[in-house]
Amino acid sequence: METKLQILFLVGILLPLQFLKITGYLHDGAAAGIPQKINYPAINCRKHTASLTDFGGKGDSKTSNTAAFKAAIANLSKVAGDGGAQLVVPPGKWLTGAFSLTSHFTLYIHKDAVILGSEEESDYPLIDPLPSYGRGRDAPGKRFSSLISGTNLTDVVITGGNGTIDGQGAIWWKKFKGKQLQNTRGYLVEILFTNQLQISNLTFKNSPSWNLHPTYCNDVIIEHVTVLAPIDSPNTDGIDPDSCSNIRIRDSYVVSGDDCIAVKSGWDQYGIKVGLPTQHLSIKRFTCISPDSAVIALGSEMSGGIRDVRAEDITAINSQSGIRIKTAPGRGAYVKDIYVRNFYADTMKYVLWSTGAYGQHPGEGFDPTAIPQVKNINYRDFVAKNVTYVGSLSGIEGHPFTGFCISNLTATLAGPATAAAEVEDYVAAVKKKLPWNCTDVAGVTSRVVPKACVQLPEKSPVVCPFPTDVLPIDRVELKSCSVGV
Ligand SMILES: *[C@@H]1O[C@H](CO)[C@@H](O)[C@H](O)[C@H]1NC(C)=O
Ligand SMILES: *[C@@H]1O[C@H](CO)[C@@H](O)[C@H](O)[C@H]1NC(C)=O
Ligand SMILES: *[C@@H]1O[C@H](CO)[C@@H](O)[C@H](O)[C@H]1NC(C)=O
Ligand SMILES: *[C@@H]1O[C@H](CO)[C@@H](O)[C@H](O)[C@H]1NC(C)=O
Ligand SMILES: *[C@@H]1O[C@H](CO)[C@@H](O)[C@H](O)[C@H]1NC(C)=O
Ligand SMILES: *[C@@H]1O[C@H](CO)[C@@H](O)[C@H](O)[C@H]1NC(C)=O
Ligand SMILES: *[C@@H]1O[C@H](CO)[C@@H](O)[C@H](O)[C@H]1NC(C)=O
Repeated sequence: METKLQILFLVGILLPLQFLKITGYLHDGAAAGIPQKINYPAINCRKHTASLTDFGGKGDSKTSNTAAFKAAIANLSKVAGDGGAQLVVPPGKWLTGAFSLTSHFTLYIHKDAVILGSEEESDYPLIDPLPSYGRGRDAPGKRFSSLISGTNLTDVVITGGNGTIDGQGAIWWKKFKGKQLQNTRGYLVEILFTNQLQISNLTFKNSPSWNLHPTYCNDVIIEHVTVLAPIDSPNTDGIDPDSCSNIRIRDSYVVSGDDCIAVKSGWDQYGIKVGLPTQHLSIKRFTCISPDSAVIALGSEMSGGIRDVRAEDITAINSQSGIRIKTAPGRGAYVKDIYVRNFYADTMKYVLWSTGAYGQHPGEGFDPTAIPQVKNINYRDFVAKNVTYVGSLSGIEGHPFTGFCISNLTATLAGPATAAAEVEDYVAAVKKKLPWNCTDVAGVTSRVVPKACVQLPEKSPVVCPFPTDVLPIDRVELKSCSVGV
């Protein structure tokens, strides 16, 4: 009896092993659940290939794939030092809770594949707050894990043929609005302390909160991504580079309930202590729809500093503001050396907006004498139609925001609208001829229509600067990699 059981047991182990050997779940370039060869651009190609189905994955939209993702990535992490691996998510709907990535690794999501974020809180284990935030952003204390995360990695690619990662965030938005959450919502993708990160050719939908959150990273490429969230969903920022250096964001499109891009670097005393800026950020060919927020926000969490941001060829449709600087006493650090050119907006409340009184502190312990410095802010070649305010720029009393340079900006003002609130804005801005409203700011303007406020006198002819050097991250060329046979 005992021997029989032992034999059965052995057969039970050996048969699947034999099977695995035949199907070979390190395919070395074989099909991986994809019938034809598909090329894709990436920072690095991989020697090994596996499919999520090799690890028991089921794309039926009902079975949880958390264990399959974890097993696959644990296994593939072993070949990180041997040419790395790509994990293919084949056509199907793959429900999963939180999982983390590994180094020298590509997550390839097929065009007909959808990763569905689980709607169960328990699928997102609680984790510590980020050191530069000191607490969760939504609530004091811990945070729910992000759907896809990674820490201390090198060379990570998340890509596909416009496959989809859908956070199914509605349940989180409802709980957040109903104040039913004790902890901070997770993000769709949060990658920490990583060198060489690429996120490309994917659609991100319905994140519980922010969508893409690279933090403490270096060399980040985000391109050809689409981010979609209902315009009334809370805090669904598109792309939030946070305390990162050398980032490029290109050819992307965001529709969001919050800022399309929010450049950050930590919060008050926690961010000041960590002291990691976001710097050398290049944004090109970016389109945004954000009726309640900004196309590009700088802050409000900027306590590690924000410098050397270059944005060009930006299109904004029905967004609240164009470029918005948000800070306050207590934030410390700086926002400086900001350059934006070729900006087209249609229907917008504030084209250029800044505030030095953005509240929201992480608690009572912030230092009100930590005054942020805002200087050398350059905007040129703007065309904006149907706007309420061209510039609503305020700084901090006694600590003005300086070195604004605005040239070649043409705005046409909105006509009277029907909604009561809009009528009020119209009365304030147009009838009182206040398309500009400036306090505690200084700088110059040139060829700006309508004429700017007295704090930004006309100084002709000025062409505001835009750096002529090319950032190293803008020079990185992607290799041609492939999946399938
Ligand atoms: C991982 O894959 C290798 C190579 O196919 C295989 O030999 C090994 O058994 C797998 N490990 C686990 C834990 O599944
Ligand atoms: C990341 O690296 C730091 C410093 O080496 C270490 O303290 C931390 O535990 C690591 N975290 C993870 C998740 O590996
Ligand atoms: C990535 O997206 C761009 C723009 O839509 C497209 O031209 C390119 O072919 C896509 N690449 C892949 C591998 O899907
Ligand atoms: C990618 O898919 C989204 C919707 O899922 C769509 O809006 C977008 O146009 C697609 N992008 C490309 C380049 O096909
Ligand atoms: C102009 O903007 C207002 C909001 O301020 C909007 O209601 C209206 O539809 C816009 N008009 C056009 C022609 O886009
Ligand atoms: C002014 O800006 C517009 C819009 O970007 C651009 O087409 C035009 O060439 C600029 N004019 C000059 C003189 O730079
Ligand atoms: C102008 O800006 C100041 C300071 O932000 C604000 O208090 C005031 O209400 C604004 N005025 C108008 C007409 O918007």
